[in-house]
Amino acid sequence: LDEPAYTFDNRITRMLGIDIPITNAPMGGVAGPELVAAVSEAGAMGLVPGSLARVAPEILPRFIQAMKENVRRPFGVNLPVAFVTEAAIIDQVLESGVRFLTTSTGPVSKHTARLQQRGITVFHVVTSLQTAKLAADAGVDGLIVEGSEGGGLRGEHEIPLMVLLPLITSRIDLPVIAAGGISDGRTMAAAVALGAEGVQMGTRLLASRESEVHETLKQAVVAADETESIIINRHHQRPLRVLRTETTEKYQNPSTGDAFKELSRDVLRLYREGDLLSGFASLGQVMGRVDEVLPVAEIVADAVKEFSETIAHLSTGLRA
Ligand SMILES: Cc1cc2nc3c(=O)[nH]c(=O)nc-3n(C[C@H](O)[C@H](O)[C@H](O)COP(=O)(O)O)c2cc1C
Repeated sequence: LDEPAYTFDNRITRMLGIDIPITNAPMGGVAGPELVAAVSEAGAMGLVPGSLARVAPEILPRFIQAMKENVRRPFGVNLPVAFVTEAAIIDQVLESGVRFLTTSTGPVSKHTARLQQRGITVFHVVTSLQTAKLAADAGVDGLIVEGSEGGGLRGEHEIPLMVLLPLITSRIDLPVIAAGGISDGRTMAAAVALGAEGVQMGTRLLASRESEVHETLKQAVVAADETESIIINRHHQRPLRVLRTETTEKYQNPSTGDAFKELSRDVLRLYREGDLLSGFASLGQVMGRVDEVLPVAEIVADAVKEFSETIAHLSTGLRA
C-alpha cells in the first residue's frame, strides 16, 4: 500500500499520538487482537473492547498484553461503564499502561478523574447535547459523538449525526470523534466539515478481513441495503440498532421482553457460527454502503485518500 498522501495535524492526532484520526468501534467479539492491531499499525487508533470483561475477567488483560507485545503504536481501551463497573477492571487498565480510554453506555464514569490523574486521556460517548454538556462539565478530555444511524446501543432520543454533530461542536469546545454512518473518506470529510477532528467506524470494520465474526455475517453486511437495520428494544432501557431478522423483528413490539437481557448470550453464537437467527447483530444503516470485505489497512488508506480528494474537490468547486 502507498504511504498516505495526506497528513493530519489536529487536537485528536496530537493528544493520541497517532497519524490518522480514525478509531475502530470497540466491538466485543468482533474487534479481536488482529483487527485492533491492524488499526493501530495503519497509523490510526486501535480500541480494545472492554465489554469482554463481562464475559470473563481475564480476557481484557490478556488482550492488552497481546497488543503491547505485537504493536508498537498507540492503542486504547473502551469501557462500557454501565456494565463494566468493577474497580478491579479500572485497576487493570491503570496497571496496563494504556494511555487512552473511551467510556460509553451511561453517565461519565466516577473513576474518570482518577484515570486522568494517572495521565490517561478519557473521551466519553454522548448521544445528545445534554449528555455532552454533562460530560464536558465532568472534565472529560474529548467526546465521541454517536448518531442514531450507527450500529449497537443507541441513545434514547435517536438524533442523527447530521444534527447532533454540528450542534455539539458549535456549543462545546472539546475535540470530537464522530461515530455513526462513517465508512469512507467522503463521510469522514463530512464529519470534519461538521466540526469533528476524528471518526469512529463500526459497521464498516465488522465487514473487514480481520474482523472475528463468521464470514456469513460479513457477507450479510455486504448484501444488505440501507433499510435492513431496525431499532429494537425502544420500550426497555437500552435501544439497539441491529440487523433485521425474524428474531430481532419481534423485539420491536412493546409487549416482548428486553432483547438485551434475553438475547445477549446468543450473540456470540451468531458471531462465531454465523447463525443469523441467534441473538442480534448490531449493525448500522451504513451497511447499505458497504459492498466488499476488505483488509483494515486498505479501508484506512482508502479513507485517507478519498478524504484528501474530497476536500480538494470541494475547494475547487468554491473557486469555480
Ligand atoms: C457490533 C457492534 C458492537 C459495538 N459495541 C460497542 C461497545 O462495546 N462499546 C461502544 O462504546 N460502542 C459499541 N458499538 C458502537 C460503535 O462504537 C459505534 O458508535 C457505531 O458502530 C458507529 O456507527 P456505524 O456502525 O455506522 O459505524 C458497537 C457497534 C457495533 C456495530
